[in-house]
Amino acid sequence: MLPILIAYGTTEGQTRKVAQFIAERLRIRGHRVDVVDTATPAAEQVQPFYQAVIACGSLHLDRHQSSLAHFLKSNQEWLKTLPLAFFSVSLSAAMNDADSSKEVRRSADHFMQECELQPLLTRCVAGALKYTQYDYFKRVMMRLIARHHDQSGDTSHDHEYTDWAQLEADVDQFLKITGLAPTAQVA
Ligand SMILES: Cc1cc2nc3c(=O)[nH]c(=O)nc-3n(C[C@H](O)[C@H](O)[C@H](O)COP(=O)(O)O)c2cc1C
Repeated sequence: MLPILIAYGTTEGQTRKVAQFIAERLRIRGHRVDVVDTATPAAEQVQPFYQAVIACGSLHLDRHQSSLAHFLKSNQEWLKTLPLAFFSVSLSAAMNDADSSKEVRRSADHFMQECELQPLLTRCVAGALKYTQYDYFKRVMMRLIARHHDQSGDTSHDHEYTDWAQLEADVDQFLKITGLAPTAQVA
């Protein structure tokens, strides 16, 4: 059986954690998985021998990583032929209001349209505030944005909002709609 490819872009590392979590869940379910950071030279070596692809990226100033866009566009021809899922990681996905949900979904859909890809499953995943990794200006900016949206302004440590149980359920849903779930799960 061919492996599943997880291609991700990250800026502060939360999407790497998301990609690794997805990989671990897929391996537990018996799949072989390759995980590739699209900002590394390994992304140039990827060959089109997969049965499904999961793309993950995060939002910064309403844009996903250019490395991810580059990877998806330059491999578009064969990616189009495979079942694809897209997980878009952001702070907006952690906010429990309809406007933020709509906005973040629009950004994810727009990114996929730009890459001329049509995922079978798109999910907006709550990310993290990594205050300890930001420089001074980023920390001040993110604190203001976070507080405006009722998220934590305590910059003394990082805050993780990712719902791992929901993410696992989303991975299972992707396996189910692609027919890659173990038979017992589909029933
Ligand atoms: C400079 C900066 C800009 C950001 N811009 C957005 C944004 O436009 N929309 C949003 O929902 N989240 C935004 N975020 C939150 C990130 O999407 C969130 O922290 C995510 O977990 C980052 O994932 P990563 O660690 O994989 O890069 C921003 C974060 C930073 C530091």
